Amino acid sequence: MSRRVRVAIAGTGFIGAVHARSARLAGARLVGVASSSPESAQRAAAALGAERAFDSAAQLVESPDVDVVHVCTPNHLHVPLAEAALAAGKHVICEKPIALDGDGAQGLTDAASAAQRVAGVPFVYRYYPTVREARERVRAGASGPIRLLHGSYLQDWLLRPEDDNWRVDAQFGGASRAFADIGSHWCDLAEFVSGHRITRLSAKTLTALPERISGSAHAAFQAADGHGVPKRVATEDAATIQFETDHGAVGTAVISQISAGRKNRLYLELDGSEEALAFNQEEPEALWVGRREAATLIKRDPEHLSAAAARYATLPPGHPQGYGDCFDAFVAEVYAAVETGTVTEGMPTFTDGLRAARLTDAVLLSAREDRWVELSAPAPRRQPQPMG
Ligand SMILES: NC(=O)c1ccc[n+]([C@@H]2O[C@H](COP(=O)([O-])OP(=O)(O)OC[C@H]3O[C@@H](n4cnc5c(N)ncnc54)[C@H](O)[C@@H]3O)[C@@H](O)[C@H]2O)c1
Repeated sequence: MSRRVRVAIAGTGFIGAVHARSARLAGARLVGVASSSPESAQRAAAALGAERAFDSAAQLVESPDVDVVHVCTPNHLHVPLAEAALAAGKHVICEKPIALDGDGAQGLTDAASAAQRVAGVPFVYRYYPTVREARERVRAGASGPIRLLHGSYLQDWLLRPEDDNWRVDAQFGGASRAFADIGSHWCDLAEFVSGHRITRLSAKTLTALPERISGSAHAAFQAADGHGVPKRVATEDAATIQFETDHGAVGTAVISQISAGRKNRLYLELDGSEEALAFNQEEPEALWVGRREAATLIKRDPEHLSAAAARYATLPPGHPQGYGDCFDAFVAEVYAAVETGTVTEGMPTFTDGLRAARLTDAVLLSAREDRWVELSAPAPRRQPQPMG
C-alpha cells in the first residue's frame, strides 16, 4: 500500500483518544470518529484532529474510505461493530475484551480469520522493552525452567459506592468486570512472557460493594432520573486465581479495582530455577532480576538490551518511556501488518482476545461452582503469515 493507511475510530473516550494519538504518530490518516451521538462525535473530531465526524459507529464501520477500524466503545458493542467492519472488508483493532464471553469471542475470531483481515487486540503491556527482555531471558534459558508465576493487577478507581462506570453494569461491560477488564491483561502478560499456558484454575470473586450510586461518570448510559439512585451490582470488584500451567508451573494472581492507593499496578513475577524476574507496570523502566548471589536491575538501555527488547526502546536510557509508547508501538505494528501482509511475532491478535475471554469464562465458572476448571487446549500461536 503506497498511500497512507486510512483509519477511523469508534468510541472517543479515554482509550479512543490514545488510539487517535498513536494513529497519527504512525502516519495514518484519521478519516473520522464516531461517538455516542453526532454532537459528541463532532466535539471529538475537533479535539482529536479527525477529518470528519460520523453520525454513528454503524456508518463509520462501513465507510468506503476506511482501511482500519478501531473499536474503542464499551464492551457490549465490540462484537457487532467489529463483525460489521470485517464484513465490510476492513482490518480491525478491537479493544479488549473483544466479546462479552468466550463464544462471542470465538465467533469474532472466526470471522476475522475467514475475512483474512488483520485483527489486533491491544494487550499493549507486551510492548514494554523490559517485558520483552524478560521474555527473551526465559526463551534463551537464562532463567531456567519457570516454576512459579505470581503477581497482581490492582487499581482503586472503583473503591467507593459513589464510583460508577458502564463497566459496573453487566449489560454494557459483561458478566465479569475486574477480571475481564484487567485480569485479562495480567494473564496475557504472564503467558506471553513465560511461554506457558494456564491449563486449569480455581478462582474466587468478590463484590465488596453490592450496591453503588448510579450514574456518576457516564450519563450517556443513565436515564436522567436514574442519576444518584442506588443500584444493585452483579459484577465483581476483585478476583483471585490460582492455576497450573502446561509446563508444570503453578501460580496465583490477585486482581482488584478496590485496592486503595493502587492506580494501575500490574505486577508480574516469574520464578525460574536460575533466577526470578519481576516487572511492575508503574515502574516499567527497569526489570528486576533476582539471583541467589545478588539481585540486579536491568535498565531500559537499548545498548545493553537483547535485540528483541531494544527494538521497542525508542528513547535513550534515562528518558522514560511509558504506556503511550507501548500503544504507539502496537498500533504501528498493526498498520505495518496491513501494509506488508505480515503479522510480527508477538503482536496480539483476536486469537489472544479469544484466549482472554475463555480464561474469563473459566474464572466465573470456577467462582460460581466453587471448583477447579480445566481450560481446553488453546489454539497454537499464530505464526507470522501473509494477509489476503
Ligand atoms: N487496552 C487497554 O489498555 C485499554 C485501556 C482502557 C480501556 N480499554 C478498553 O477500551 C474500551 C473503552 O474504554 P474507555 O475507558 O475508553 O471507556 P470510556 O467510557 O472512556 O469511552 C467509551 C466511549 O465510547 C463512546 N460510545 C458509547 N456508545 C457508543 C456508540 N453506540 N457508538 C460509538 N461510541 C459510543 C462513549 O461516548 C465514549 O466516548 C473498553 O472496551 C475497555 O475495556 C482498553
